[in-house]
Amino acid sequence: MRLKGKVAIVSGGSSGIGAAACRLFAGEKAAGIIVADINTEGGLAVASAINEAGGQATFIHLDVSDESAWRDAVATTVSTYGRLDITVNNAGLSLPEGRARIEETSLAVWDEMHAVNLTGVFLGMKHSIAPMRESGGGSLINISSIYGLVGSIGSTAYHSAKGAVRNLTKAAAIQYAPEGIRANSIHPGFADTGMTAKLHAQPGERAARIGKTPIGRMGTPEDIAWGCVYLASDESSFVTGAELVIDGGMVAQ
Ligand SMILES: NC(=O)c1ccc[n+]([C@@H]2O[C@H](COP(=O)([O-])OP(=O)(O)OC[C@H]3O[C@@H](n4cnc5c(N)ncnc54)[C@H](O)[C@@H]3O)[C@@H](O)[C@H]2O)c1
Repeated sequence: MRLKGKVAIVSGGSSGIGAAACRLFAGEKAAGIIVADINTEGGLAVASAINEAGGQATFIHLDVSDESAWRDAVATTVSTYGRLDITVNNAGLSLPEGRARIEETSLAVWDEMHAVNLTGVFLGMKHSIAPMRESGGGSLINISSIYGLVGSIGSTAYHSAKGAVRNLTKAAAIQYAPEGIRANSIHPGFADTGMTAKLHAQPGERAARIGKTPIGRMGTPEDIAWGCVYLASDESSFVTGAELVIDGGMVAQ
């Protein structure tokens, strides 16, 4: 009952970490969960499984880089469930061509990766704040990455966008703390999800990542989603502007 009475939007809720967050939010008795994604089939499946288990979920088609789609999604959330308390800006994109150094990164890939991974977070926060104010406060949870904290040999645009999400979150935390709206970032380490499935299927890739992870296993979507539950709940009411690293010890080294 950690989220009793609260209404949440989870972008990228059709798969991986976002889908796990939707399921855990339902388990904690959230009053309404908006599964928001460009993947309609996956999102409908997540929402119906929650509803069949007695929860309250609705799928909304949302491209997080589209401002008018965000306006519509937030309006539908409020008209369906009456309020908004939690927005998890989780939708993310890692293009295979984006796994490149600076010189090999095209402007088109750079722009597309920033549109989803950074602009999507900005727009999600921008349009959530007014209804959260109406609710008397709220929790903005932005999914960054360990790659928003440290560098690596490639993934130029991903590092840039995820690093910007880290500090944009702190700016939001300071701007809206007086109104009871908290903003925190989560920094997942390596986890098995839709995003990493192809890479982790390549010989040696998954084992190499486990080898870099002190806890010695791959993360699960639920490992990260439990962090979302904490930051969404009133248990974290004194936590804002924080970075929650959930990575099996990867960046502690
Ligand atoms: N899996 C990892 O190892 C890992 C590590 C660090 C950070 N992350 C971050 O976690 C978040 C969730 O990713 P995941 O690993 O669960 O991957 P995933 O591919 O399983 O889920 C991402 C979801 O985002 C959706 N999405 C993509 N573009 C969108 C758009 N424009 N509008 C709306 N939805 C869109 C996809 O359809 C998908 O359902 C991402 O922000 C990702 O960068 C993942």
